[in-house]
Amino acid sequence: MTRILGIETSCDETAAAVVEDRSRILSSVVLSQIDVHRAYGGVVPEIASRRHVEAIHPIVEEALARAETRLDDLAAVAVTQGPGLVGSLLVGVCAAKALAWQLDLPLLAVNHLEGHIRSAFIENPGIGFPALALVVSGGHTSLYLCPEEGVYRRVARTRDDAAGEAFDKVAKLLGLGYPGGPVIDRLADGADENAHRFKKAVMKDRSLDFSFSGLKTAVRRAALHAGLVHGASTGGDEVSPAVRELVASFQKAVVDALVATTLRAAEREGVRTILVTGGVACNRRLRRAFHEAAAERGLAVHVPSPALTTDNAAMIAAAGFLHLERGAFADAAVNADPNLRL
Ligand code: KG4
Ligand code: ZN
Repeated sequence: MTRILGIETSCDETAAAVVEDRSRILSSVVLSQIDVHRAYGGVVPEIASRRHVEAIHPIVEEALARAETRLDDLAAVAVTQGPGLVGSLLVGVCAAKALAWQLDLPLLAVNHLEGHIRSAFIENPGIGFPALALVVSGGHTSLYLCPEEGVYRRVARTRDDAAGEAFDKVAKLLGLGYPGGPVIDRLADGADENAHRFKKAVMKDRSLDFSFSGLKTAVRRAALHAGLVHGASTGGDEVSPAVRELVASFQKAVVDALVATTLRAAEREGVRTILVTGGVACNRRLRRAFHEAAAERGLAVHVPSPALTTDNAAMIAAAGFLHLERGAFADAAVNADPNLRL
């Protein structure tokens, strides 16, 4: 029995988890700061770091207690090294370093994006290779070809905004609150998604890259035209049908771009297994579209449960197992890297 403690503080979630033997989650605790940042319409880095400092010890203790695990039961400590907000990352990295040093345990420095990709293996440890992984979150929209376990080759990225960022910005523009993804997901449900015909958010050249800023501008133009900017929320829960149609049409354009490009990449690379990971993978319309495409084309599509797609530490611990098995240990000089590449 091998247990890894995972720590994740790359953005506005303070998270710790204990995972046993690669994929058995003994505990996964996530403290979201959303309520603090909501007032500002987005994450305020300075506040995020302070909150992490306050929360990190209680959250780690909670994760150990829920897992009925003592510090001596741990085989290693895994932590998100980057990418993310530097002040936030530093809190997790310092905590993990201190624990590993004190307990004389291996320290595993995990790339947040590898964590998202490995989240798909927690519920399906038997996923085969090669696989194509879409990482779609507030900070990233990338496709990685995984020819074998632990190997990641980026085949596409976004040229401008990440898909989650587009959700957040469109919601902000319409006065729908933060974060925008879950709100739009809910409001779009049942609304006419063909009310506006937005162009698919893909590059004109043959590249597989994404681009969402043009779509965002098109939504702003449509909102201005219809007099909907900031007018969506009238104080109560009432949101006009015009706004619901607008966000549904926007959501459809994002989903179409993500699905079409992923399928094109899978075909180009000759891959029949697709992983859909990251916070935006919570989106119900996106999940449905991927499952439909999979059924139509006989592809294997894996989308983790919502709790595993948004930021959490179980995915960091799970990715840590690959590092532990390979003996890829971080040394005491390891530092947070806000621009870490995968
Ligand atoms: O992976 P994540 O928790 O943090 C990052 O690494 O960025 O992703 C957060 C992003 C936010 O932009 C949020 O609006 C988006 O995921 N998101 C969603 C949904 N739930 C969260 N986007 C669309 N639909 C959702 N249901
Ligand atoms: Zn993330």
